[in-house]
Amino acid sequence: MSKTATKPKKIPAKGKTGEEHRVPIFVMGKRYDVPESLTIQKALEYAGYQLVRGCGCRGGICGACGTVFRFPNSYRIEVGLACQTVVRPDMYIAQIPFFPGNKAVYDIETLPAEGGTIAALYPEVFKCVGCGTCTRSCPMDIDVLGYISKAIQGDLKAVAEGSFDCVMCGLCAARCPAEEVQYNIAILARRLYARHLVPKAAHVAKAVQALEAGTFDKVLQDLKRKTMDELKKLYKDLEIEPDMADESWTPQNKSHLGE
Ligand code: SF4
Ligand code: SF4
Ligand code: FES
Repeated sequence: MSKTATKPKKIPAKGKTGEEHRVPIFVMGKRYDVPESLTIQKALEYAGYQLVRGCGCRGGICGACGTVFRFPNSYRIEVGLACQTVVRPDMYIAQIPFFPGNKAVYDIETLPAEGGTIAALYPEVFKCVGCGTCTRSCPMDIDVLGYISKAIQGDLKAVAEGSFDCVMCGLCAARCPAEEVQYNIAILARRLYARHLVPKAAHVAKAVQALEAGTFDKVLQDLKRKTMDELKKLYKDLEIEPDMADESWTPQNKSHLGE
């Protein structure tokens, strides 16, 4: 996050046309009055900050926008994703877009797919005191203590499945008294599980086979010859998967699927 020369935008005071009630927030100690409906991320931009760090997908997926905040007369440090958390009056805000946690370096191809691998690469996992602060800090409502307990037991499948929604924001690690780096432990388990233990998906193997056999060469060549307008039309005419489609849905025209 950096401060540009931009001045905070003016919005009409309450009671006038186009009104939106404003609330005071404090960014690194400085007060800004921002519309109450904004997320922390939008409020920072409204206040004139340019987000060059701590901002990615803006949709609660990338985990880049971990933020800590506190309210006056409260000792509690609270946490959230800046792109998902709406401002509240008197919020004192600071972002922690990067957390310098321990990160093991490994070659997933040669690592043994067994529970002991977690202990070998992250021996600090055994320092967990079971306080549950990580679970309380997680903006994705993951049972972080639960998957760390499974990591201690060496249950790769349970860690992989229990941590599946992790966005790697680092908020759990930032608050952990045992200095665990939960998200790196979790991604190690997911990598080991996905690379070595889960049966290979038959449909992916079939698609790779078709790719290697040159099934899509002609359709790709045809695409490369099209003009921008032709590509746009093709895109607009594409059959879109319905929002509520179940997993068995496939398009009517399967020619580009190699079927
Ligand atoms: S915050 Fe750290 S010590 Fe506490 S339960 Fe989570 S991993 Fe264990
Ligand atoms: S487990 Fe930790 S890193 Fe993952 S989303 Fe939750 S708080 Fe963020
Ligand atoms: S910007 Fe990606 S989770 Fe907030």
